[in-house]
Amino acid sequence: MTFKSTTTAIPEVRATPRHIAIIMDGNGRWARQRMLPRVAGHKRGVESVRATVRACIERGVEHLTLFAFSSENWRRPAAEVDTLMELFVLALEREVDKLHQNGVRLRIVGDLERFGPRLNKLISEGEVQTRGNERLTLNIAANYGGRWDILQAVNRLLRERGTDEPVCEADLASRLCLADAPEPDLFIRTGGEQRISNFLLWQLAYTELYFTDTLWPDFDAAALDAAIESYRRRERRFGRTSEQLSQNTAAAETLVKP
Ligand code: IPE
Ligand code: IPE
Ligand code: MG
Repeated sequence: MTFKSTTTAIPEVRATPRHIAIIMDGNGRWARQRMLPRVAGHKRGVESVRATVRACIERGVEHLTLFAFSSENWRRPAAEVDTLMELFVLALEREVDKLHQNGVRLRIVGDLERFGPRLNKLISEGEVQTRGNERLTLNIAANYGGRWDILQAVNRLLRERGTDEPVCEADLASRLCLADAPEPDLFIRTGGEQRISNFLLWQLAYTELYFTDTLWPDFDAAALDAAIESYRRRERRFGRTSEQLSQNTAAAETLVKP
């Protein structure tokens, strides 16, 4: 299923975001504050992932996209990259059954070619096992970059279209990694930095941005609720004026559904 984009149609605005995208940042600093090696922060971060997935299911969020490893994170020391890959393998081995029992559809999005055969096998097995689930779609962005995503979509477009007719938004959007999800309503970045770091460049066009100093290993259901509270106070205008929204109460009401 493809969704209309926020720039071609005004979406229905619900009190609970349908799609939340999170940059899980601050693991290294969390560990350093405790005189622990950085990887201890990554290990602890897996617990925050569990808590966030659970909280999203309970709150009726439909899509959760987590930035686990960026296309630029290969620049880190080899030992840290290796540990992150091992953690990824372990998480897949340990968590997929539980995700499946909880009705979660798992997708790994990113350039998977750079991962070894063992990881690729676990990824495709996890995706196949959970593909019929409908409660929550959990997208893990791994070796993902927003520019890579747009480029791979453009290259597919060039391969698949035998014409030089102008392309429209939908032609490109339907070839992006998250083509089967509505654009994120809410973006959260933990760890205090206020930047996008090459995450979902196309999809964040009208997403509400929320930055918190909370480090990812400390993120939990209460922190998620604080982000959703902030989201509920936003006026999502999609280019219109505030007056348009308040004058046309009837139309606005049809846009706001719990
Ligand atoms: C985020 O935490 C996890 C990954 C990028 C893999 P960091 O490792 O970036 O933690 P800080 O930003 O150094 O504290
Ligand atoms: C962004 O965090 C990527 C992930 C959380 C996976 P980084 O810690 O890599 O971002 P920068 O380098 O500080 O922008
Ligand atoms: Mg960081």
